[in-house]
Amino acid sequence: MAKRNRLDPYPRVIAEFGPGDSLGIGLAGLISGCEKYYAVDVVEHARPESNLKIFDEIVALFRDRTPVPGDEEWPQVEPKLDNYEFPADLFDDRRLRQVLDDGRLREIRLSILNMGGGHSAIQYKAPWYEEGVVKGESVDMIYSQAVLEHVDDLKSAYRSMYLWLKPAGYMSHTIDFKCHETADEWNGHWMFSDFMWKLIKGRRPYLLNREPHSTHLALMEAAGFKIVCDQAKTSESKVGKNQLARRFRSISNADLVTSETFIQGVKASHVAL
Ligand SMILES: C[S@@+](CC[C@H](N)C(=O)[O-])C[C@H]1O[C@@H](n2cnc3c(N)ncnc32)[C@H](O)[C@@H]1O
Repeated sequence: MAKRNRLDPYPRVIAEFGPGDSLGIGLAGLISGCEKYYAVDVVEHARPESNLKIFDEIVALFRDRTPVPGDEEWPQVEPKLDNYEFPADLFDDRRLRQVLDDGRLREIRLSILNMGGGHSAIQYKAPWYEEGVVKGESVDMIYSQAVLEHVDDLKSAYRSMYLWLKPAGYMSHTIDFKCHETADEWNGHWMFSDFMWKLIKGRRPYLLNREPHSTHLALMEAAGFKIVCDQAKTSESKVGKNQLARRFRSISNADLVTSETFIQGVKASHVAL
């Protein structure tokens, strides 16, 4: 997707927002040639033992040049790709030999066992509270998968991402606006008042911020990003605007039916913070 949108497909330093228990995408990044991987989460979910297993499985996929699982296997996964073959255009024989070097892979294994250590290629920060957990202007690419709909303080999150990225660095996010089983209709979570929502959330460390698509775009742009890709998917709304909680009644027709999106944005360095 980065290559399709003319972004650098070989980032050296990557950072993931909210990886959950599997660091799989970051490990795939390190295997494919990245030098450093930051993972910031609000809860410490990831364990070294399970991630070592995931690492070995991903190495085998690279060694066998396994195609990416397609639409038949994982129909829910977005965004759709143009091509599900192993990306041989990005990994020719020479590059693959270099990245799969035994010594290199051994170093990554050690980094998994020592996540956060001074020499580790993996800097796992959980829970994180301050933007200082990642060095400013040190990251080439930031990404997240089904996370930004959960983040309570979105303005700070996008500001942190802007600060962490190098000039012209980019971010890549999938955001799922659906109710996550809190209501009968996919967008039924917008029917609850703030008070009811507080009760539903209870003592959980995070649930959903309930912000629609246009709010994310506006906050990204306000933080200083230029949006280069916004692949939104719509779903029929069985909920009328007059059924929504007061706070959501002025939602746009587009937001009401936007159920997920895949967004890529570039740090526009001319924008002042
Ligand atoms: C639905 S899980 C997705 C996990 C993983 N990305 C995946 O695709 O399986 C949401 C993740 O967002 C994390 N999260 C919630 N609020 C966050 C915040 N403010 N900063 C970073 N991560 C956060 C949660 O701890 C959890 O790991």
